[in-house]
Amino acid sequence: MNILLIGSGAREHAIARAIRRSPQETNIFCFGSSRNPGIFELVHEYNFGSITDIRAITNFARKKNIDFAIVGPEAPLEVGIVDELKKINIPAVGPTKQLAQLETSKSFTRNLLKEFYIPGEPKFKYFNNLKGVREFLTELNQLYVIKADGLMGGKGVKVSGDHLHSYEEAFEYCQELINIGCSFVIEEKFVGQEFSLMSFCDGENLAHMPAVQDHKRTFVDDQGSNTGGMGSYSDNNHKLPFLTDEDIKQAHEINTSTARALYGKFSEGFKGILYGGFMITKNGVKLIEYNARFGDPECENILPILKTDFVTICQAIISGNLDKINVEFINKATVCKYAVPNGYPDNPVKNQKIDTSAVHDKNCLYYASVDAREDGLYETGSRTIAVVGIGDNLEEAERIAEEEICRIKGPLFHRKDIGTEKLIRKKIEMVNNL
Ligand code: AMP
Ligand code: GLY
Repeated sequence: MNILLIGSGAREHAIARAIRRSPQETNIFCFGSSRNPGIFELVHEYNFGSITDIRAITNFARKKNIDFAIVGPEAPLEVGIVDELKKINIPAVGPTKQLAQLETSKSFTRNLLKEFYIPGEPKFKYFNNLKGVREFLTELNQLYVIKADGLMGGKGVKVSGDHLHSYEEAFEYCQELINIGCSFVIEEKFVGQEFSLMSFCDGENLAHMPAVQDHKRTFVDDQGSNTGGMGSYSDNNHKLPFLTDEDIKQAHEINTSTARALYGKFSEGFKGILYGGFMITKNGVKLIEYNARFGDPECENILPILKTDFVTICQAIISGNLDKINVEFINKATVCKYAVPNGYPDNPVKNQKIDTSAVHDKNCLYYASVDAREDGLYETGSRTIAVVGIGDNLEEAERIAEEEICRIKGPLFHRKDIGTEKLIRKKIEMVNNL
């Protein structure tokens, strides 16, 4: 079986490993924008190129007799890679351009959930000019979030009290968006703890994955600016210490209702990974956002503990038979910590040599923004290497991740607190005090 893997970060490294663990005979063909040494040693062929260059990707897929594709990042989904592959009879794990709007358009998602009475929505309004902005900001009474309506590389969302400190600043941001021709959503700001609940989805049936908590802030104790995610953890019981069974059930129901809503409205199913970004608040589980792909780093927590054959799951997603297989995970806790360049995310050092030779178990490493050159490994300015500890409990998983990440040499740093009992206790207390 020839499988096309689009993307070349740590998430795709985890996907490549999950494919290679399959008892089925597979060849992986990676189309990626960087030379990922981890992926390189797992694949049959590696093609470098822009992951939004649809023609290059479809040509590659056609030439290599690809049976199906797995799309890692959101950018190729946004430009419609799944639609184009479909035209040449190559199915994909990943939604079409239309359904990927769940991630690429904030207003698409908010309106869909509203239309289908799916719970978990904030108060929100869509704007394509400044009329009514002041009134709505006032109505939300200091608790608002402004979201640019499109993929903005994680920089389009500004939260009151965090990035925006007055109505004037908020209004100026809206003005800025209008000036660049960008519409936006203003919504109620929730207070609570965020978590990720991803589901495999074949269009009609869903198989939910364990809940994971990512850490977006740069520094210890959730300080500093937002990043792509500094690390994440999942517990051995597949829940999170600050969530009840009922909370998890609510998140499952929101994902299931959303998939049904898409199917009902567009007569085509969402095939791929439905990633709900949720927050537990004093009023229950709320939906912060949807992504149309695996989370990074969440994917690095989840795929290593997947018991069911990942390739079988992909086949079931494509054929619409996810209800016919049992998707199971082993009862282990995982802690993922990202080593990132000094200065990340605002002024990262770039093109500095790093050395992973002292790491005991190379299987815990997932390479991200690195370049394998003749004289060694270089970091290239973004999140560099994800290190995943797997253990019987969080304490063990955290210890393994922390020990291994400290063995990586180079101008890098990481968050020591992710997965520690101290930080988790704080999160439980925060939720108890909501
Ligand atoms: P998004 O791109 O929609 O995930 O937003 C990025 C980050 O902004 C999220 O991870 C949250 O930390 C924050 N955020 C977004 N929407 C809300 C909301 N309604 N209430 C509180 N925080 C939010
Ligand atoms: N972990 C955040 C993301 O993948 O968007």
